[in-house]
Amino acid sequence: MFSGCLSFCRTMTGKQGRQWRSMCKGLILGTLLTSCMILVYCVSNPQVHFSVPEVPVPYSCAHRPSQFHPKLIKNSSEKYTAHPCVPKVDIMFLKTHKTASSTFLNILFRFGEKHRLKFAFPDSRNDFFYPSFFQRSQVKDYKPGMCFNIICNHMRFNAPEVAKLLPVDTSYITILRDPAELFESSFHYFGRLAPFTWKIPGDDKLTEFLLHPHEYFDPGGFNSYYLKNLLFFDFGLDNSLEVDDPQVEEGIRFISDRFQLVMLVEYFEESLILLKDALCWEMDDLLFFKLNARKGSTVSKLTPELRARALEWNAIDWKLYQHFNQTFWKKVDAYGRQRMAADVAELKKRNKEMASICIEGGHPVEAASIQETDMQPWQPIGEKSIMGYNLKKNLDKAHWKLCRKMLMPEIQYLTELGVNLWITKLWGHVRDIINW
Ligand SMILES: *[C@@H]1O[C@H](CO)[C@@H](O)[C@H](O)[C@H]1NC(C)=O
Ligand SMILES: *[C@@H]1O[C@H](CO)[C@@H](O)[C@H](O)[C@H]1NC(C)=O
Repeated sequence: MFSGCLSFCRTMTGKQGRQWRSMCKGLILGTLLTSCMILVYCVSNPQVHFSVPEVPVPYSCAHRPSQFHPKLIKNSSEKYTAHPCVPKVDIMFLKTHKTASSTFLNILFRFGEKHRLKFAFPDSRNDFFYPSFFQRSQVKDYKPGMCFNIICNHMRFNAPEVAKLLPVDTSYITILRDPAELFESSFHYFGRLAPFTWKIPGDDKLTEFLLHPHEYFDPGGFNSYYLKNLLFFDFGLDNSLEVDDPQVEEGIRFISDRFQLVMLVEYFEESLILLKDALCWEMDDLLFFKLNARKGSTVSKLTPELRARALEWNAIDWKLYQHFNQTFWKKVDAYGRQRMAADVAELKKRNKEMASICIEGGHPVEAASIQETDMQPWQPIGEKSIMGYNLKKNLDKAHWKLCRKMLMPEIQYLTELGVNLWITKLWGHVRDIINW
């Protein structure tokens, strides 16, 4: 049925053809998504009604501190004293959507491997049944009383459940992004997954939507949370509140009490330096390449008017972002502006050096030019706009290993860390077959 419809779609040309095509694709997508959801719920979550016994979590899941060989610092009197700073390894990273979080995940994966940490991964897919609230029974091989160091896959945050999974000394971290940019990105990436967008006319659906959001938006519609206050939603809060509702303030207070560090995409290097300071990491742990970046031509630049509309439409996220932008710069002040500038310069220099060592040509390339399938990034529905990298040839062994990990897209890295992603991969094959 699909291939028949598709070949019919392909033979249509012109504007009408495009409309038919997008309707066909919508139909197929809807059917597929529904089947997938049913499949997912039937097959991979047999413990839906199984209540997990309560066992108190341990205080810490770090190995003995001596295993970290605390740095020895030579002091003025030529004696050695042990530095009290021991890297924190128990980490909850709330992976928000469209916020460079794949790049950050790559950093966490490498840190976890270096210290042999135990990740709490989802089973059979790369998220914790988003958008339903996180439940610890969704963690792969979970048994009450187990020790996990890191959780970092997409979830809809559910503080009490997370607290019942991770040790008491866990550091909570997350990342935010300017809500106008985030909305543009989310519309590009997820727009087609929300059926209400299919009826938006014209080629520039984003602009049309922002001009008349109330006309098109369907608050109860399938996947519609992707297109309104997505950040607030990811924190497990109600994204449909009015911005002056007291629950919005409460939500922001809840986030600032729970999370030690809220990073900002716009100041990614600064965020990493604050992270290093808060968790006592090393500069080596922060090296990164930007993963999952979009081809420049597919990024639509918002005009000041559209930007204002996007912020108004996502008013809760805008309030959230402004709050944490303020606390962020207070933290930078406490760290020292000059010290921060020096550290950021150092990190940028090290990243540039790594890029010239690891990356063929020194820059990202389009999907079609990526030679190794291991390096192919996951693409949004309907196009190949996400860039990736080619690993340089003839690297020496030590560099080859690090470079490969730094460049590896999330899905491949998860597989390498032992997560079985059959649902995610099945979905990928279906898309390959219908050439989505
Ligand atoms: C260096 O070590 C000595 C002896 O342990 C100690 O008294 C002194 O305070 C240390 N100096 C610094 C700068 O840490
Ligand atoms: C974030 O804070 C900085 C420093 O206070 C300020 O210059 C900047 O305009 C703020 N950004 C936003 C989007 O509010």
